[in-house]
Amino acid sequence: MITLCEPTLGEAEKQALNAVIDSGWLTMGNQVKAFERAFATLHQMEDAVAVSSCTAGLHLCLAALGIKPGDEILVPALTFAATVNAILYVNAAPVLTDIESIEVPHISLDDARSKCTSRTRAVIVMHYGGYPADMQEWRTFADERGLKLIEDAAHCPAAKDVGRFSDAAAFSFFSNKNMTTAEGGMVTAREPAVLEHIRLLRSHAMTSGTLDRHRGRAYTYDITALGYNYRMDELRAALGLAQLKQLPQWNARRQVLADLYRHLLNIHLPQVSVPFRKSSGNTSHIMPVVLPETADREKIMIELYHKGVQSSIHYHPIHLFSYYKKMFPNPVLPQTEKFAARELTLPLHPGLNENDIDRVVGALSESVLHD
Ligand SMILES: Cc1ncc(COP(=O)(O)O)c(C=O)c1O
Repeated sequence: MITLCEPTLGEAEKQALNAVIDSGWLTMGNQVKAFERAFATLHQMEDAVAVSSCTAGLHLCLAALGIKPGDEILVPALTFAATVNAILYVNAAPVLTDIESIEVPHISLDDARSKCTSRTRAVIVMHYGGYPADMQEWRTFADERGLKLIEDAAHCPAAKDVGRFSDAAAFSFFSNKNMTTAEGGMVTAREPAVLEHIRLLRSHAMTSGTLDRHRGRAYTYDITALGYNYRMDELRAALGLAQLKQLPQWNARRQVLADLYRHLLNIHLPQVSVPFRKSSGNTSHIMPVVLPETADREKIMIELYHKGVQSSIHYHPIHLFSYYKKMFPNPVLPQTEKFAARELTLPLHPGLNENDIDRVVGALSESVLHD
């Protein structure tokens, strides 16, 4: 089976985990600090805050940026549930926004303009598939309207400039992401005060940590706000540090494989299109393709599976899931619906080789041409 995604794990990760076990200190401590610094450096930021997941990170971004119940937040309908759920956690109102087009499945500036009201307080831009949206454009959009700008950067660790133009950004280290800590995430923010607030809220808004008290640097603590347990532990941070060192080369390898997909699809299956014509400057987190309008996607997915190729869909739009249907009756999202009905995600991870990509394109060609 050529799998959709796979973590790359080896000796470096084993040694990192053993070293933490030998140290005897498992919860948030020096490994977490070192991981935050290394991640911030990679993103040309001063600092970052490690958290238990990207979902937790998005929740903290909204809370620290002062989003209040009833505030309207523009968010793409074409995203993972976490992006919208984080808005619901702070009792704000997600406003589902369309994507630009099937060629550019990023949240649409035009639709965001038309859905902005006097109650809009923020916009969340999700960098679909590891292809960064134009954040300078979004910065201008947000500044002109006095909005907070948040990035769902789950797919974009180590992407150039991601995190630098928004008020806050959250990254994911879930097992299917470009680098992993099994579960985990990282938050960056432009304003040091916002980042410090996120750091505080991560651990119940306690004014000192367990390690500080263990080392005698503090003897007690105060609690200054309603916080959460969104901490990262030392084992995950050590894993993250080992993965981070290899991330640039893995991202580069993903780009090479994505380019090969584009090349082969263009030759053998021009009726299947690939979003985001530009393949440089991204993290190629997934390999999305858009099937012909008449294709039977489910049949193609089953056939691919029987030929040893796993595939998936990114994403079923939020408003089509049972839980959200009542919340978002009849949203106008024509591009999202068009894209989501035809999108198919092919295997992409650094463990694949050129023959694997060839096999996937061959299997897809047979299925699409005989559909
Ligand atoms: C776009 C997007 N946002 C947020 C998340 C949530 O990440 P995590 O599992 O780290 O909470 C994911 C995870 O799949 C995602 O794809």
